Amino acid sequence: MGVLPRRGVVGFAAALLVATAVPLVTAPAADALANGLAKTPQLGWNDWNAFGCDVSAALVEQTADAMVANGMRKAGYQYVNIDDCWLEKQRDAAGNLVPDPVKFPDGIKAVADYVHAKGLKLGIYEDAGTATCAGYPGSLGHEKQDAASFASWGVDYLKYDNCNNAGSSTTQQYIDRYSAMRDALAATGRPILYSLCEWGVNQPWTWGPQVGNSWRTTGDINDSYGSMLSIFQQNVWLYPYSGPGAWNDPDMLEVGNGHLTTAEYRAEFSLWAAMNAPLIAGTDLRHISAADLAIYTNADVIAVDQDPLAKQAVPVPASGKPAGNNGLWVLSKPLSGGDRAVVLFNSTGTTATIGTTASEVGLPKSNDYQLRDLWSHNTTETAGAITAAVPAHGVVMYQVSAGRVGSNVGPNVILGQSDLTGAEPGKPVSVTESFTNNGRTVVRAADLALTGPAGWSITATGPTRFTGVGTGRTVTAQFTVTPPTPTTPIETDTLTATANYLWRDRQGTVSTSQQAQLVSPVQAPYATYSSATDAPARFGQVGGDFAISGAGQDVWSGNDNYSAIYRSGVVGTAATVETEVTSTAALSGYAKAGIMVRNSMTAAGSGPEGVILYVSPSGGIQLEWNSDGNPYIDSVTPGNGTIPAVVPVHLKLVRAGASYTGYYSTDGQNWTTVGTATVAGQAATQDAGLFVVSASAGSPALVGYHGFTVS
Ligand code: GLA
Repeated sequence: MGVLPRRGVVGFAAALLVATAVPLVTAPAADALANGLAKTPQLGWNDWNAFGCDVSAALVEQTADAMVANGMRKAGYQYVNIDDCWLEKQRDAAGNLVPDPVKFPDGIKAVADYVHAKGLKLGIYEDAGTATCAGYPGSLGHEKQDAASFASWGVDYLKYDNCNNAGSSTTQQYIDRYSAMRDALAATGRPILYSLCEWGVNQPWTWGPQVGNSWRTTGDINDSYGSMLSIFQQNVWLYPYSGPGAWNDPDMLEVGNGHLTTAEYRAEFSLWAAMNAPLIAGTDLRHISAADLAIYTNADVIAVDQDPLAKQAVPVPASGKPAGNNGLWVLSKPLSGGDRAVVLFNSTGTTATIGTTASEVGLPKSNDYQLRDLWSHNTTETAGAITAAVPAHGVVMYQVSAGRVGSNVGPNVILGQSDLTGAEPGKPVSVTESFTNNGRTVVRAADLALTGPAGWSITATGPTRFTGVGTGRTVTAQFTVTPPTPTTPIETDTLTATANYLWRDRQGTVSTSQQAQLVSPVQAPYATYSSATDAPARFGQVGGDFAISGAGQDVWSGNDNYSAIYRSGVVGTAATVETEVTSTAALSGYAKAGIMVRNSMTAAGSGPEGVILYVSPSGGIQLEWNSDGNPYIDSVTPGNGTIPAVVPVHLKLVRAGASYTGYYSTDGQNWTTVGTATVAGQAATQDAGLFVVSASAGSPALVGYHGFTVS
């Protein structure tokens, strides 16, 4: 939760080794730990992702109540887990760990009793080092005593972390530290699930099965699409190592924490289930939305995760390209009854058709296959093609069976429409809508249509009705589409393709949508610039309203990525720059949007001097600066989250010589100081701009601003 350094890099390096090593290795015998636990991946909850150090008995007990009331216990979630910060900073005179008396007034045993009475189990956290990541006493050298405490309290699960690990670095040192606690837990005689958390540093998948029930494979997850994607890309290649009682752990789920779309959270949940991951909910279950709860309790997807065959999904070629090529993924997970769970995952920023076949995903030859869509709950049949138009960052997840298709099951049909990225106001473009029948059953007739919001002109330029569409056939309709002049700087409109079709004596409907961004160009004296090359930036202006759609990792963080609408040389040694951030979309985590003043707006990286005043979901409202010629920030004020982010918000940056003071206001009248920076190295004349960085690789954030004045 922002208090700890990031360490994703380590896991990434390890995964690179593995990606090339996979074909050469044989999976170790699983379940060598033989504590009889986690025969299927553990299901539960942990406080860390949503609450950080704010854990307490009340939170844990209320969460247990919520899991009973909201159906999660019934869906299979069992463990209620306490993470870091539950204990006192010192052991007692006898060397025992002491629960924090304010957070856990009746100790841990009372909480365990409460949780057990609800039919659930209790988990706790410790560290294979001298201190936990948040600085509480660690268990290194105290394994027996601490394991005995856990057992005496009735603890059922231990997550064992890797901070402050006394400089250990070799694989053997890691094995020794983690095995000491394994043996201590075993010696208690209490079955305690043992979850290793060494972030994938020393290839725990190679030794983890003998030591624990699961092992983290990567650095910490956060509630951003980029984080989820990067962890997936590392964990997916570790499929040979997962098995009963011994699981790859790509970290706890972020579903429900608010920064991803429903499609992205479904993707996270589907991918984790396909990878046999422990499904540990990481959100506030006392206040979860119906949509997020529906993800956590999707029984079909949970069943894929929990399938007794316990095989992790294997990435297979997609659309004839190697697995993961161009960001398109097909995962195939063998299931105990002979079916396959197949996830089509589109990690890119635009809708894409992903295709594979029943034989490519490993199913036996058959005249017909049944496709059960595990999210829409529709069942269709296919002669063998498994394809779908998958929305950006989304998944389609099927359970595929050979044969056994009832006559009431309709053909699997796929609808696509050509991409409207780059469509410009008033300029006609041609859009192709395509309809494919993957089924054995003939489609007797199909009517294709394309609709958009008011202002769009859409005309068919050929036939839109087709008859007798047989197996594997595709028919297409052409439309001429003219986008309207946008009324906002960047207008996002939705175009929907629909097909109504007949098979046997039944009717079916299928539709697919895409979003088009219409830009009203920026006018002089304003100019635009982007150093965020992971996705194209867009800039719009209507009068005094501005919008920027931009991606990028961070400003002054080694990289220097931002997209800006700016004015050259407008800031002298006495100047005030003001704007209002009016709206944000897909601005998450440490993304930033606000005012940037720098010596040269177009010299990202090479001339990094400057000051930014911004709103950031995780950072809050902050002032940050750089003046020493290197590409790293000098300082930021105040600390993360001290001034919580609000939007809309007015921002004002005042320069007086070497001093820059930032202010914010929610009404444009009453201003609060954010902080003052005294910054050397700033030119007498500087550029000023509105900027955004999305902090999410390849995924732009869209930010609206009202007004941009320099006085
Ligand atoms: C590490 C772990 C996290 C969490 C924190 C607690 O970062 O990887 O999952 O337990 O420590 O401090």
